[in-house]
Amino acid sequence: MRNTFYVTTPIYYVNDVPHIGHAYTTIAADVLARYKRLQGKQVFFLTGTDEHGRKVEQAAQEAGESPACFADRVMHRFKSLWTKLNISNSDFIRTSEQRHTVAVQKFFRVLAEQGDIYLGEYEDWYCVPCESFWTDTQLVDGRCPNADCRRPVEKLREESYFFRMSRYQKQLLRHLEENPGFVQPESRYNEIVSFVKEGLRDLSISRTSFSWGIPVPDNPQHVIYVWFDALLNYISAIDYYGGGERFQSFWPADVHIIGKDIVRFHAVYWPTFLMSAGLPLPKQVFAHGWWTIEGKKMSKSLGNVIDPYQLVDEYGSDQVRYFLMREVPFGLDGDFSRHAIIGRINSDLANDLGNLFSRVIAMMEKYFEGISPRAEAYEGIDAAVKDKGVTVCKTVDQHMNQLAFHRALAAVWELIGFTNKYVDETAPWALAKAPGEKKRLATVMVTMLEALRLISVLLSPFMPDACEIMWQAVGGATSLAQCRHTDLAEWSVVTPGTRIHKIPPLFPRIDTGSAS
Ligand code: MSP
Repeated sequence: MRNTFYVTTPIYYVNDVPHIGHAYTTIAADVLARYKRLQGKQVFFLTGTDEHGRKVEQAAQEAGESPACFADRVMHRFKSLWTKLNISNSDFIRTSEQRHTVAVQKFFRVLAEQGDIYLGEYEDWYCVPCESFWTDTQLVDGRCPNADCRRPVEKLREESYFFRMSRYQKQLLRHLEENPGFVQPESRYNEIVSFVKEGLRDLSISRTSFSWGIPVPDNPQHVIYVWFDALLNYISAIDYYGGGERFQSFWPADVHIIGKDIVRFHAVYWPTFLMSAGLPLPKQVFAHGWWTIEGKKMSKSLGNVIDPYQLVDEYGSDQVRYFLMREVPFGLDGDFSRHAIIGRINSDLANDLGNLFSRVIAMMEKYFEGISPRAEAYEGIDAAVKDKGVTVCKTVDQHMNQLAFHRALAAVWELIGFTNKYVDETAPWALAKAPGEKKRLATVMVTMLEALRLISVLLSPFMPDACEIMWQAVGGATSLAQCRHTDLAEWSVVTPGTRIHKIPPLFPRIDTGSAS
């Protein structure tokens, strides 16, 4: 069985400032990448920036810079955000890089050799912000039909190279029918199936109206259409051009994580390009929903764009990551509000998780001077915690494989709740006072430590910083990053004599100012 895993995010347009939507996609991909590493997979996790096209050219002009200088400057907004959010990407691809250019040109040639590219003329309505052409019938009230755009469109007529997408309609439909998991969630799958059933038009894949892009091989008056260029990042970054080991090991991608607005590009255009090139298709395209802000669409004009930098400064990186993954089922739309994030931090993180940790560690200090004791005979109530732990590991695995991040977290919270109840029921403070109960107390404490250890491993893809601290606190010998999923199945990992460390509160409560 292949032991590699390849996950991608969309590459972000450099002309925009990073917002919560960008952070969301990238955090989700990071959580998945970290989880797969935990399982011992060799993971390639790709993100990057989409730097060509009219939009970027225009933004550069407005800034009085060349597009290349503009892109060099602004792509750092994304790179540094990923550092701030603890994103563990393996690579960062920029479409302005040479390795990308050569790959795109090679791919273009391959498609041309298949007879799938021809020169024609294009006339249609063009939406600059969406970089998309639309037909008369697609327009809504004469404007861009994209529900999140609806801006005015302009008529463009130009000589253009076309890709014979129509040729692949049947093959794509068959692929969709044979692989219902290819596009997820199901609602998006159904949308794509109906779209393809309506028939595929050939696709215009070059432009002559601007120059900031990759030149068409042998006809540099044309630059390659930005979506053709952008989608190829998924293979240019793993050395499609050289066709070397990286490409052999990681293609096809396991999952492209994207937002719902760009499903058509990923689930129709991209697979047909790959079919023409004779390459295998990605195994899955997973489209998440959109965030609204306090019930309203996020937009510059409303001035409600959430800046992820500010969010992390205010609440902390782990807290933001947790909130975004827990609050909304992955695939559905969600609403961001300060009230909701503070609620999650105070109740799930500070109360449930934070308290459990500090309680157990304080008791370890008090009853065993912070040195883990030897567990003697396990009783039924102790075994129940272990069983719960094993079941939760399995449940988490199922949910993670379906990208149901909120469910995976809910499952870990069941274990947290179960362990909190165990603390109350076994009442270590009473055992500590009762004569002759020292051995029983030791077993109870070790059971709690094992549960904490497991919790910190299971949550580590979501909250890597806090979990590393928790893991070390309960005596994790190596760094959590070296921990493998197989370690989870073992229960007696906390060796007697291990020093258990006191830690400051991991998730301080946020004072909401309301009297309570
Ligand atoms: N450059 C293209 C992608 C090319 S991939 C080959 C692009 N870039 S983008 O910067 O505009 O958007 C990137 C992602 O951000 C998309 O997946 C989009 O869905 C997501 N989001 C933009 N606004 C969003 C929200 N309000 N909420 C959630 N995600 C949103 O498209």
